[in-house]
Amino acid sequence: MLVLGIESSCDESAISIVKDGQKIIINEIYSQYEIHKKFGGVFPEYASRSHLEKLLIILKNALKGSNLTLKDLNLITVSQKPGLIGSLHMGLSLAKSLSIALKIPYKAVNHIHAHLISAMIGREDLLQFPALGVTISGGHTFLALMKNRTEYSIIGSTIDDAVGEAFDKVAKLLGLGYPGGPKVEEMAKYGDPQAFNFIPCRVKNKPYNFSFSGLKTKVLYTLRGQNAQNNGEILLKKEKFKDLAASFQMCALTDILKKSIKACIDFNLKQVFLGGGVANNHLLRQLFDRFSPPTLKVFFPQKGLCEDNGAMIAALGFYQFMQEGIESSLNLNPQPTSKLTCI
Ligand code: KG4
Ligand code: ZN
Repeated sequence: MLVLGIESSCDESAISIVKDGQKIIINEIYSQYEIHKKFGGVFPEYASRSHLEKLLIILKNALKGSNLTLKDLNLITVSQKPGLIGSLHMGLSLAKSLSIALKIPYKAVNHIHAHLISAMIGREDLLQFPALGVTISGGHTFLALMKNRTEYSIIGSTIDDAVGEAFDKVAKLLGLGYPGGPKVEEMAKYGDPQAFNFIPCRVKNKPYNFSFSGLKTKVLYTLRGQNAQNNGEILLKKEKFKDLAASFQMCALTDILKKSIKACIDFNLKQVFLGGGVANNHLLRQLFDRFSPPTLKVFFPQKGLCEDNGAMIAALGFYQFMQEGIESSLNLNPQPTSKLTCI
């Protein structure tokens, strides 16, 4: 089954064609980075306009690049929630239009669920359920107990900022710009991760929950002094910025590492699958390599599948369609939020 995956929930316009949920034929991603960088974050109206301009071009490129035509497609899948309402509308409208024109079904999926399965793509023969899924993106941070690809329960999530959001905010404080994650990682390479004694936040009686807002405030105070405002005078010497970036990064990532490993031990899970933009981080990969128990298999997404992409949408849409056998309604609207309920 050849499945088209459409992703437009935030600032990436992405189209993929995936065979049977596993084999990626093509994965095209256009990042709106150049459009938003002058604003220091995503400007929603510009994001949706750019999706409108780019989605059809990317679709044509994807078909050309894979030597396929629209007639070869069997299923259309799309991110319907959560995300920016205007941006989601662009992808959803394209999916519905293609479904009507080609007379093939379409399936709308939850973007953050798709991040959970992105590291499973192409690894069909290795999967062992139940497993731990870890979504670490700019909008979400949560741990999920995965019964299989399509069924999961959330066991912990952030109670304030997502980890990617914390990277973006710290990058802003350090004057590094947007998107912050890769820039903080780059600066941190040259710093001492023990220079500042930051300790991950524990949420009372919720061992798998996260809180990153206090850590972000500690970075602010280290930079501008106690009780500082975001725009206060910078007191820390410029040559110490790399130490601050490294200490922040180490604290945030060891928190993800330790809580993920604890969940695997507590629930007797043998595999963990990470997804979302922060899974691009090299230090996080090294930490899991070094500190995971030998019995635990850790899977990071393959290249191009951490950040927002159409392949994870196509894979999830395929499995949900095969399981449920029903397509999504043409009356379905985009949904900006998606409630995370912990068990
Ligand atoms: O999954 P994603 O592309 O979009 C959302 O669904 O949110 O994640 C984007 C987030 C941003 O916050 C970005 O700063 C972060 O992922 N990110 C990173 C790295 N690359 C991207 N964070 C830490 N280290 C990285 N190398
Ligand atoms: Zn995402």
